[in-house]
Parts: sequence; structure tokens; C-alpha cells
Amino acid sequence: MRVILLGPPGAGKGTQAQGLIAKHGIVQLSTGDMLRTAVAAGTPVGLRAKSIMERGELVPDDVVVAIIADRIDQPDAKRGFVLDGFPRTVPQAEALDRLLGERGLKLDAVIELKVDEGILLQRIEKRIADMTARGEKIRSDDNPEVLKGRLFAYREQTAPLVGHYASKGLLGRVDGMAAVDDVSAQISRILAPAKAPRAPRKAGRKSTAKAAPKAAAMAAPKSKSRAGRRRKSKAAMAVKRTARKGARAGHGPRRPGAKTSQDSAKTVPGGG
Ligand code: AP5
Repeated sequence: MRVILLGPPGAGKGTQAQGLIAKHGIVQLSTGDMLRTAVAAGTPVGLRAKSIMERGELVPDDVVVAIIADRIDQPDAKRGFVLDGFPRTVPQAEALDRLLGERGLKLDAVIELKVDEGILLQRIEKRIADMTARGEKIRSDDNPEVLKGRLFAYREQTAPLVGHYASKGLLGRVDGMAAVDDVSAQISRILAPAKAPRAPRKAGRKSTAKAAPKAAAMAAPKSKSRAGRRRKSKAAMAVKRTARKGARAGHGPRRPGAKTSQDSAKTVPGGG
């Protein structure tokens, strides 16, 4: 499973990512965490990112894309991942599309955590309190002034991704104002079709291509498949009529189910 969590600072991306990795055995890829680690270690990337992050601005696309390109190739990411904080700009999303395409991988879903901006400062303050109580160093960007910059960056540069992924049919929205468990339940409902069981392959079956329609039929709601059956029998009758006409006109009958170039043009590759 490969999922993106989208939302402004403090929306709950990290919190929900933790739930997803526990539930699905996938890894969390948080560019924010990776950059903070680089800053703490004083690596070249960290030195470049430090002041940018402290201002609440976005680190350049080429830096984060290179980090993610390297990370998704690691063995622990093979089973899937939840992207938390990446992509954050349209060029990052396009780079991700390319990276996944080159590897023959696809996204299952992009989940937007919808929250009222008014709540975000309270959440950040709560995190500061929690981290302080645990004796942890608080984040240099967790303060009201920098939060304004982070929110501005979200609105200007990241929010357009909602349209980007909606146009690809990948976007799911959840109410991020709900309690943590409720948000998790909403996400589970969105992801349920993404991990619907595939049709079991029978011994001796040669091609997975044959199993695909069966899996689709299993996943389809009953009412749809009844309508589908009606459409199918109408289509079969139309094929027979055409075949009879063709025979009358001196052409051989068209094999039922044989594809015309028109049929092929209509074929839409399945997602998943
Ligand atoms: P990053 O680390 O990604 O921070 P962020 O997006 O600002 O998000 P946060 O980590 O603050 O919040 P979250 O949504 O994960 O919420 P959380 O679960 O922690 O990025 C930091 C910086 O790195 C950026 O500003 C940028 O400079 C740079 N960067 C990172 N990625 C980049 C990229 N791709 N491109 C360029 N630059 C990049 O929750 C927050 C608090 O709320 C917690 O206390 C939590 O307990 C609580 N909470 C969570 N859910 C709920 C709930 N449902 N109800 C009540 N409380 C809740």
C-alpha cells in the first residue's frame, strides 16, 4: 500500500501515519523527520535546510525529491509506505509520479486531513507541552510566529495538490477535527477498497490477466453487477445482430468479444 497524507501543519499527518504503519506493516516516510535528522547531524542537506525550516518555508524541491527517491528504494519500503509531508508542491508531486512510474508502482490513495486553521495553534502548543513534559527538545519551527509562515506555505504551495490528486481520482477527504481514533476509522474506510483481496489464483492458471476481471467482479457491488449483466446481454445481442448483418452483406461474422480498434481506444487501464 502506498498512501499520501496531505494537510496543514498540525493536521495530524504524523499521528495518522503512525497508525497506518502499525496496521499495515508499511513504513512512514516523513520528509520533515528526515530533514530534522539531517539538520541535527550537520550534513550538507541539513546545513542547507536549517534556516529555511526555521523560517517555516519549504526546502527546495530538488533536495526533498532526492531524499525520497533514495528512500523509496530501500528494502523496508518495498511493502509500501505512507508519505507524511511529501509531496508539498506540484513539481514534487510530478517528480513522485515519475519516480513511481519508473518503478512500475502506483499510489493507492491521497488522504486530505481537513482541519480549521484556528485549531492548529492549539495543537502545536499541545505538542510543545507534550515534548517538554517528556524532556524532549522542542522543534525550532513550533512557535506561533513560524506557524504563520508554515500555514502560508501550505496555502500557497501545497493546497494546489488537492486538485492535482482529485483530477487523478486518488483523493479522499477526512474530517481531521474529529478525535484521533475517528480520523483513523475514516481513513480505514477510504483505504478498504485499495486493499480488497485479489481473486485467488488457481493452480495451473497461466495468466494473471484472466484473474483481473474476476477480482473486479468480486469487488463490484451486487446491484452494479446485475446492471452489468443486463448491459452485457444487450451488448451480446447487438454483436449477434451485427454478425447477422455482416453475414448477409457477405462478410464473415465477427467473433463475439473480439476487439475493434474502437473498443481498444476505450479501454482504461485499472488503478491500484
Ligand atoms: P513537517 O515535519 O512535515 O511538519 P508539518 O507538515 O508542519 O506538520 P507537523 O509535523 O507539524 O504536523 P502533523 O500534521 O504531522 O501533525 P501531528 O500528527 O504531529 O515539516 C517541517 C518543515 O520541514 C517544513 O516546514 C519545511 O520547512 C520542511 N519540509 C518537510 N517536508 C518538506 C517537503 N516535502 N518540501 C519542502 N520542505 C519540506 O499532530 C500535531 C499535534 O496535534 C500533536 O500534538 C498531536 O498529538 C495532535 N493531534 C493530532 N491529531 C489530532 C486529533 N485528531 N485531535 C486532537 N489532537 C490531535
